Amino acid sequence: MKGIILAGGAGTRLYPLTKTVSKQLLPLYDKPMIYYPLSVLMLARIREVLIISTPRDIPLFKELFGSGEELGVVFSYAVQESPRGLADAFIVGEKFIAGESCAMVLGDNIFYGRGFSGILKASAEKVSQKGGALVFAYYVKDPGAYGVIEFDRNGKGISIEEKPSSPKSHYAVPGLYFYDGRASGIAKTIAPSARGEIEITALNNVYLEQGRLSVEALGRGMAWLDTGSCDGLLEASNFVAAIQKRQGMYVSCIEEIAFSNGWISKERLLKLAGSYKTDYGDYLRYIAEGG
Ligand code: DAU
Repeated sequence: MKGIILAGGAGTRLYPLTKTVSKQLLPLYDKPMIYYPLSVLMLARIREVLIISTPRDIPLFKELFGSGEELGVVFSYAVQESPRGLADAFIVGEKFIAGESCAMVLGDNIFYGRGFSGILKASAEKVSQKGGALVFAYYVKDPGAYGVIEFDRNGKGISIEEKPSSPKSHYAVPGLYFYDGRASGIAKTIAPSARGEIEITALNNVYLEQGRLSVEALGRGMAWLDTGSCDGLLEASNFVAAIQKRQGMYVSCIEEIAFSNGWISKERLLKLAGSYKTDYGDYLRYIAEGG
């Protein structure tokens, strides 16, 4: 399975913070925001990753990650000329996907919780082997800012609405999606919505109508954090800081995941550790020495 991180957009909701730099490169406590969604793909054992961003920002992502060799990952990069919508990623990324199954995570979505690695691996395997698409449902107090899924009495998903004014449930669809090789073809048939975007919700609804959409609930033990506002950013940073300081284990440390996946050697990890004269570098050294 391949992976896409969609990390473009205008970022206007965070101005002036994002006037000159991509939202997905802003600090989330001690690392750039994109480390968190990248860790999600890596935990799903996805090694071929396409980063999509704006013409302005793509050089910065290239500078940050390069070819991916340091992480045992293969990065590709693509420009989205304008923010045409989330499902546009499957049109921009069509050549990269090359008809395979593909996961997409939004570059500003943060997930953390017990058992999540297992859920990711199982989801990637399910869609790779059986086809169709898979999304998650997450209970939130105020669902109106998201894609919202409605369930029937048997817990079967029956509709998804994008940012509804009267949500039919409290279940939001987070920015993490798994699709079979048909997603690009379907994305091309989607007409722009009233707000002028090729909506991911429209793509998900096509799979739903075909009876090919699985919906997995993410339970109470999972954190899906908001980074859409300055308060959301601060709260997410505080959350990561609290976990890391309390447990001494890092959240979304991509080098640690690469090492535990067996994608990089102890020597490579120690070399990376040596290049960071920070607590982060000390943590990498601790992991390399078997911590
Ligand atoms: O976060 C989950 C939600 O993400 C879902 O529940 C919604 O169904 C989905 O539409 C999306 O809603 P948002 O309001 O968060 O979408 P937003 O326009 O903020 O875009 C999400 C990220 O993707 C953001 O960091 C910018 C980036 N983006 C967005 C668009 C429209 C792109 O890179 N390209 C785009 O064309």
